[in-house]
Amino acid sequence: MKNFHYNVPTEIFFGKGAIKNLNNIAKYGKRILLVYGRDSIKKMGLYDEVVKILDQADTTYIELTNVEPNPRIESVREGVVLCREHDIDVVLAVGGGSVIDCAKVVAAGAVYDGDAWDLVLHPDKIVDALPVVTVLTLAATGSEMNGNAVISDLKTREKLGTGSDMLKPKFSIMDPEHTFTVSKGMTAAGIADIMSHTFENYFTPVKGAYVQARICESLLKACIYYGPLAIEEPDNYEARANLMWAGSLAINGICSLGQQTAWTVHPMEHELSAYYDITHGVGLAILTPPWMRYVLSDETVDKFVEYGVNVWGLDADGDPFDVANVAIDKTEAFLKSLGLPMKLSEVGIDRQYFEEMAKNCEERTQEGYVPLTYRDSIAIFEAAL
Ligand code: NZQ
Ligand code: ZN
Repeated sequence: MKNFHYNVPTEIFFGKGAIKNLNNIAKYGKRILLVYGRDSIKKMGLYDEVVKILDQADTTYIELTNVEPNPRIESVREGVVLCREHDIDVVLAVGGGSVIDCAKVVAAGAVYDGDAWDLVLHPDKIVDALPVVTVLTLAATGSEMNGNAVISDLKTREKLGTGSDMLKPKFSIMDPEHTFTVSKGMTAAGIADIMSHTFENYFTPVKGAYVQARICESLLKACIYYGPLAIEEPDNYEARANLMWAGSLAINGICSLGQQTAWTVHPMEHELSAYYDITHGVGLAILTPPWMRYVLSDETVDKFVEYGVNVWGLDADGDPFDVANVAIDKTEAFLKSLGLPMKLSEVGIDRQYFEEMAKNCEERTQEGYVPLTYRDSIAIFEAAL
């Protein structure tokens, strides 16, 4: 295990009725930018609850609405203007990862002397930000408990991650009941995302991070056990609660501490979203099994056996490649059973931009568990077709 520094300052209010703690927002200021997506928070009644609490807490708010899934830099810029015009103190995100990510870069952009896209290209330029508070409505990205944000400029076909400790939310409200209304498709995409975050941390060349590996396995087992339940019974509290907390833990740093984790499937997926605006979790579900098959080798087979035995309950005896391949087949069958598309062709993607996309992400994929050149990425895209 390598040395590490761990700091997650985000306070979490988890469970039924946790929204009552939103009144703590007044500690951070009275003028609030309320950020949300389209109509989901209004349909479920959460919007009314939020504004009532803001009123009772004697705060004022203005709104940044219609934040898109795969949030655009244009929405961020709009939010920055609102913050400056209205002298905003705190940015409150109510929604899924897209809303939270947008809110984070708005919070940094509001105190940055320049265009917010600079902060996406150069995370080191984020040296200050307004406080961010979140009310999470979708279990997937973990944005509620980390300093990351992913923003797209579809005009230039760029979808890039940025991040800073400055962007870690001050506090997050996590009530599993707020996820009861998430559609089956988005629930499945969220599960694929949580599993992918866990895989990106689990498959590492660093030996001896036993604790982190066992945490990863527990998170994967939680997805495998509770995922189908949440899809069949959208208002199953226990299933929604476990998925929600797994989502936070998969990417709040606890799984990657002391490991050398440079993600590879995520940069490849971000290219798919940048070119085709597809749902992040869907792209991950499609790429994960071909990526696993591609990186399976004499060097990696033991790790795949560990995964097969500890997560899928496979018998370790026998040819390790057989065990590894069964584990990968099970992963693919599971994702498929959630109703997710499993081929690029199913989501309207052909090979037209494979080379371009693979070149775009090469700098990031070369650092991974198994370093991938752009030719490797093309081969994986081809296998996913
Ligand atoms: O627009 P609204 O009305 O909010 O509807 C949303 C949206 O259509 C809907 N939704 C959210 N909560 C709901 C709900 N519908 C019904 N009931 C609810 N309770 O779901 C749709 C998708 O929402 P979105 O926020 O886009 O989903 P998700 O949370 O999966 O976020 C995806 C974005 O996060 C980025 C992804 O790349 C993508 O841009 N990521 C962010 C990360 C981070 N900050 O750490 C890491 C991830 O790897 C990921 O890259
Ligand atoms: Zn992700």
